[in-house]
Amino acid sequence: MKVTDHDERIHVLDNKSNVMTVIKDIAMSGLQEEAFYVLDIGDIVRKHQIWKEKLPRVEPYYAVKCNDNLLVIEVLAALGTGFDCASKNEINKVLSVGVDPSRIIFANPAKPASHIRHAAAMRVDTMTVDNESELHKIKKLFPMAKIVLRIRCDAEVALCPLGMKFGCDPIHEAPGLLRLAHTLGLNVVGISFHVGSGCQDPPVYHRAIYHCKILFDMAENLGFKPYLLDLGGGYPGNKGTSIDKMAEIINKALDEYFNTDAVHVIAEPGRFYVASAFTLATSIHSKRSVRGDENSSMAVTHNMYYINDGVYGSFNCLLYDHQHVIPIPLKNGCGKMIPSSIWGPTCDGLDKVVENVMLHDMELGDWIIFENMGAYTLPVASPFNGFPIPKVHIVAEEDIWLLLKDALPLTEHHFVIGNTPANLRLGLDIAGNNIDPWGVTDSTIDLASPEIMADSPDTPPFMYDFVEAPLN
Ligand SMILES: Cc1ncc(COP(=O)(O)O)c(C=O)c1O
Repeated sequence: MKVTDHDERIHVLDNKSNVMTVIKDIAMSGLQEEAFYVLDIGDIVRKHQIWKEKLPRVEPYYAVKCNDNLLVIEVLAALGTGFDCASKNEINKVLSVGVDPSRIIFANPAKPASHIRHAAAMRVDTMTVDNESELHKIKKLFPMAKIVLRIRCDAEVALCPLGMKFGCDPIHEAPGLLRLAHTLGLNVVGISFHVGSGCQDPPVYHRAIYHCKILFDMAENLGFKPYLLDLGGGYPGNKGTSIDKMAEIINKALDEYFNTDAVHVIAEPGRFYVASAFTLATSIHSKRSVRGDENSSMAVTHNMYYINDGVYGSFNCLLYDHQHVIPIPLKNGCGKMIPSSIWGPTCDGLDKVVENVMLHDMELGDWIIFENMGAYTLPVASPFNGFPIPKVHIVAEEDIWLLLKDALPLTEHHFVIGNTPANLRLGLDIAGNNIDPWGVTDSTIDLASPEIMADSPDTPPFMYDFVEAPLN
């Protein structure tokens, strides 16, 4: 796979650097005004290792909708995962990196006709269905498709429940759909479910796998030869979370109901793989201090900070994905903590990122970091009001580079190695694009404030090497 000039390349970190030093270095360059992400490829690799260790029987098919960054797809393809695609464009993106169509499941139970035709043309033949009309549609458009019946089995608590929209009732609807598929001469190859994204009810997987077992038996009795069990998504991915409990319950249920190699078990994890790999850096461009209370008209009672990403950008996850975000000031603060709120850059009053938080006093140009920003953020973001969607800078430790550099579709060309001061000093960002310095004329605003680095005096600034991307 060739690297084009549109691709961001992976910057290999020396052993003194990490995500935070990279963020500090870009922020303190004084050349960066816009919000930006740092994507740590090693975090994705470590997640994959955890998945393999905890769920050895379950093959992950990454849910592309969660974050469709091309490098994420390439890294996961290099690691050997499959992919869950929801649309023609997602299918195209995954195929474009050289993934075999057999490693894609079209896991959208309500598919536009043209997308089904496209899947057929691309030989992506495994797809989920949860209603009669979809079966008729597939009979007409792609009768050879391998059908996976999606049932409903909802977690009692989940960030984003899905059952009200997708999944047939396993007891009252699924048997009828199996019979209809049989009458239509379609090929049912398995059963799937999605307990809800951000599941906080691990035992639900046991209930769902039990329902699948009943329906496998029913399908076999009708003459089908089901072989695919799809455990959907729902697995947590933030720093400090664990899939241990879910894995324990899933492994036990698989032993109990599917104790055979004849059944291929897959899942569609999304946030598990990417949530913690993306860290967002935002900067304060405006500030409003609310002063005065009954005792003193001068004291600041509340600080309102306006940052350069908001709910129409990355923080759409607050509205659509019901996430909670924690602001981390990049600079160590001092003085007393002040009740504060953080707002996005648009003119909409709804554009509020953090409602109420105690923070040290901060100034214009100071940076606020948000971890765990990889899931359901970038693919949904819009440039509403003309504010750009943050650029993603990609880093990997040296051992991750050694692991991945020859693992197709990745090649040496995906990586940039070596630390020289060239690009940041020349007013180029780390991808080598021109960036305008802020053009500060007001000396009271110090974008490259030296205190930004004050909490890590031993850490030398990370320098990026600017390398022309070979275009062919
Ligand atoms: C069909 C399907 N599979 C997988 C996922 C990924 O779920 P999660 O990010 O919770 O793992 C989703 C998310 O909405 C989905 O709709």
